[in-house]
Order: sequence, then C-alpha cells, then structure tokens
Amino acid sequence: MTRPPRIGVVGSANVDLTTFTDSFPRPGETMFGTRFDLGFGGKGANQAVAARLCGAEVTMVARVGHDLFGPATIQNFESRGIRTDHVRMVDNVSSGVAPIFVDPSGQNRIIVVKGANDCLRPADVDAAAPLLGECDCLVLQFEIPLDTVYHALEFAHGRGIRSILNPAPGRPIDVARLAHLDYLVPNETEAEIITGLPAHTLDDARRCAERLLAAGIQRVIITLGANGALLAGPAGARHVPGFEVATVDSTGAGDAFIGAFATFLGEGLAEAEAVSRANLYAGLSTTRVGTQKSFLDRAAFDAEWAARQTR
Ligand code: RIB
Repeated sequence: MTRPPRIGVVGSANVDLTTFTDSFPRPGETMFGTRFDLGFGGKGANQAVAARLCGAEVTMVARVGHDLFGPATIQNFESRGIRTDHVRMVDNVSSGVAPIFVDPSGQNRIIVVKGANDCLRPADVDAAAPLLGECDCLVLQFEIPLDTVYHALEFAHGRGIRSILNPAPGRPIDVARLAHLDYLVPNETEAEIITGLPAHTLDDARRCAERLLAAGIQRVIITLGANGALLAGPAGARHVPGFEVATVDSTGAGDAFIGAFATFLGEGLAEAEAVSRANLYAGLSTTRVGTQKSFLDRAAFDAEWAARQTR
C-alpha cells in the first residue's frame, strides 16, 4: 500500500487520573501516594493515538461530556491530526474518567466511569458511515455500548473492511455475534472472562484461542504482557515473544499494541511481523509514565526497532 493505512476507531475517550502508590489503603484508611499524573486516555482514544503516531490516517467516533474535559479531549485529537467530525459533546453527562492506581512494579488497577461513552449509539456509526466506509480497518473495544460494537462490526463486514476488536474491559459476550470479526485481541484476563477457561500459561492461552476459533472467530491474538503474544488462526498458533524493557507504568500498553498492530498490518506486513513490532511498541510504552503520553512516534519507534535487530 503506498498511502498510509486508514483506520477508524469507534470507541471511548477518557481522562486518566493516575496515582502512583507503594501500597493500597484498607477501608477507612487514608494514605499518601507518591506521584500523580493527569492525561488523556480511554481505550478507544489510546488506540487511535497509537495508530496515528505509527503513521496511520485516523478517524475517531466518540462521545465526550459538555464539561471541563470534553473540549480538551477533542482538542487533543485535533492536535494529533486525528479526524474529529464524529467526536461530539453530550449535555448532562460527564466525560469518561478513569482513576488509575499504579504500584511500584508498574502494574495498574483501573476504575472506569464511562459517562458520555455510554451515549455512543449504533445511529452514530451510521452517521459516520461516509468516513468509516473509506477506512481499511475498524478498531473497537468494550467501553461503549455492546450493541454499538456489534453494529460497527456488521458495518465493517458489510463493506469488506478489516475489523479488530479488543474486548476490554473483559465481559462475558455472545461469541456467535463475532463470527465475522477478523481479529479478536484480548489479554489473558479478558480471554479467561470470554472463554471461561484459565489463561495463566502459554498452553492455557492456546486452549483459549482454540475455543474462540472453534466459535467462528477468524483470528485471535492473546496479548501476554512481557511474554509477548499468542497469534492463532487458520494456519495454527504461534508464540511471538516480547522484548526486554524496564517497566514503570503498564497503563495503555494493550492499547499501544492494538493501534500499532492495526497500522503495521495495514502497511502490508505479515501478521507475525506486525505482532512482533506491536509487541515492541507496547513494551516501550511501559517504560514511560502515563497513557497516550507514553507512546512513541514512528521515527522513535523505528530507531528502537532497528537497534533491537542488531543486538
Ligand atoms: O487501557 C488503558 C485505559 O483504560 C486507560 O486510558 C483508561 O482510561 C481505561 O480506559
């Protein structure tokens, strides 16, 4: 493909309020955190930003509140060159927010208050159809109503557009509704919730992937944190290893993976190569604090990738 991939994200936008802490309070206890970070987040927005930073042309379809955060979120998309024709403000509801707690190992705990994200309806996908119809790939997650996700997947299938679904946050779903999905990309926890099977080891992940493929999903990528990812499809399953990095904050790493993978695949890379590069892109995002602000631009990523090939 000579032009950049065109990616449409139908998904969430939040503001992340991240507190770093050495331990967590018990009920009734007050304690001091070590550091605070305020930034733009939301799984949909993060994936859109990662794809844009990797070089894709990105259209975002989302809802934000008519509050302090709404206009700033739209401005953040615009400053990054993401199309916001279908990012609208909604009255009488807050923007999505996410209080996040990060422990000294970089592991996070997140509470999402969906707010305006819950107002993104199937009709909003239809309204964006002229722009979404020009995309090579639609990317979706579970921080918006499920019927909107299913509607967007049907839209993608009907137009012959590649679809990638990150089923996060994990929730039980009717897998039959995903029969036309091209890529399901859960992490271990989400794979467990959807399949009802454990996903602690690579063998567990293989069994989860087999169950999902048997249900009719075309391809499954289970992200495994520092261990990389399991890629499974008609040609079988293979482990694509991760890269060694010094993690300080893992928030948004899964989103970094999805945005990068969608872009690399859209550029025409083979699946396993796209997964490997996305593994590095996601890993590098964990070496910096924050969500979107931890994502590398393409030039910085390409330099890191090249350096890792010669080691
Ligand atoms: O995946 C990380 C994201 O989850 C955060 O940005 C937060 O907003 C929640 O959506």
